[in-house]
Parts: sequence; structure tokens; C-alpha cells
Amino acid sequence: MTILDGKSLSNKIKEEVKQETKEIKKNGIIPGLAVILVGDNPASQTYVASKERSCITAGIFSEKIAMNIDASQERLIDKITKLNEDNSIHGILVQLPLPKQIDTNKILETINPKKDVDGFHMFNVGKLSIGNPSLVPCTPLGIMRILKEYDINPTGMDACVVGVSNIVGKPMINLLTNARATVTICHSKTKNLKNHTSKADLLIVGVGIPHVITEDMVKNGAIVIDVGINKMTCGKYKGKLVGDIDYENVSHKCSYITPVPGGVGPMTIAMLLKNTLTAARMSVK
Ligand code: GUN
Repeated sequence: MTILDGKSLSNKIKEEVKQETKEIKKNGIIPGLAVILVGDNPASQTYVASKERSCITAGIFSEKIAMNIDASQERLIDKITKLNEDNSIHGILVQLPLPKQIDTNKILETINPKKDVDGFHMFNVGKLSIGNPSLVPCTPLGIMRILKEYDINPTGMDACVVGVSNIVGKPMINLLTNARATVTICHSKTKNLKNHTSKADLLIVGVGIPHVITEDMVKNGAIVIDVGINKMTCGKYKGKLVGDIDYENVSHKCSYITPVPGGVGPMTIAMLLKNTLTAARMSVK
């Protein structure tokens, strides 16, 4: 069993981004990322702070825009429109989830697709879907990068993706399909989850349910990718972060597995920095 070390790979990528940022600055371009946070969701605050820190370390200019929980949709659209026109900003990220008075799709459609470093705009979703990707969502992109680092080629594999969020599951399905894996899609209404997960050579799970994947649900020798980050408030793992995979009991069956923390999580931010650099380069083309 090999542990897929997303933490050290992410450090390597962050260092690469730092060097590339230095290079692009010689041409007078300072890559800039704007991160918009609406409200005071503690998890979102943690993510946004971490994104900001990583930008600074990489030499990327970062602007944080904090808006009140009861901010109107119009104000948010107004802010995004200004950032779309701001030449010092190459990437715009609106942290999700948004408060309920705001229509998330409407907001994502307001972002200039060329500055859409999350890859959530329907233009970029469509490009990925037709196999001509531009900016790709950071978490699934990070997963593909981990696989590549360990010489794991999904072509021809039986892959199973559990969870169909627009942020992780759906783009993951498209990336794997583009790579010609045979993809089974599972979600909360799947009748017999184990039937599907236990046949997978490559199992990718992002549903946010701690330890939903148990030992009996995983094939011997499988490659297992855990996207879950669940903060436990009680029980054996109280105060700890655990994944959607019951790592302790599953890992011995796997050929490769991502740990939580230190697997997929750190890759998301590394890919955000990469996408910001890509967007900065696109801005001069
Ligand atoms: N909320 C949870 N994950 C993400 C992400 O990757 N991007 C944004 N914008 N919000 C999120």
C-alpha cells in the first residue's frame, strides 16, 4: 500500500508556481487573485485565509473582499463586474456556499470565464464536458495531478465516483471520461452503493459523510481517493479531521490511498495558484 502524499506534492507545485510567478513578473505581470467571502461561515473563513496565505507565499497578489451575510445579490454582482474590469485581477473566486438570498448560478455566470479560476462558470463547465478544457475546478484537477505524479493512468480503469457536486463529483466524472476511464456515478439515491464501489479499480469519494466507505465496500488492490474533510465533534475521533473513507480499516486493502488530512485537501489550493497563473497568462494572449 502506498500513501498518496498530496501534502508534499502540493509543496512542490507551490514552489513551481512561485518560480513561474517570478518569471512572469519580469514581463510586468503580477498575477492577482480576488477572493470574495460572503458571511461568516467558519469553514469558509478558514479556507479563504489559507488561500490568501498561499498566494502571498507564491508572490501572487491577493485581494480579499468580505461581505456581510445579508449582502444583496446586486451588490455582489456589482463587485464582480468591477473585478471583471480590473486589469490587476486575473482570477476571481467566490467562496461557496453563498447565503440563501443569493442565486449561486447567477453569481457564477457573472464572473468573466477567463478569470474563473474555480472553473465553475457554465462556459468552462461546457469546455471540460466537450473535452476541450480551459480552467478546471481545483479539487478534481488536483486529483488528476496526484494520479499523474504516481504514474497512475486511469485509461481503461473501472472508476467509481461517489458524489455529484458541481465542485468535485461532476467535473471529476468529466476528467475521468476524457481520460477514457469507464466511469460509474453514485450519489445519495444510488440503490446499492457497495455493489458499485466494490467493483472499482479507482474509487473517488466526496460526499462529506465521515467513514461512509467501509472495508467491505472496497476491492482488493483498489486506488482510493478521499475528498472528504469532516471535523468530528464527538466519538473516537473527536476534534480530528476524518475523511469519507474508513482509512484505518480500508487502507490495508488498497494499492494506493490518500490520507486525510494531507491528501486531496492541500492539492486544491496548489491548483488554485496554478489556475491563477494560467489566467494571468491568458490575459496577455
Ligand atoms: N467551497 C468548497 N470548496 C470550494 C471551492 O473549491 N471553491 C469555492 N469557491 N468554494 C468552495
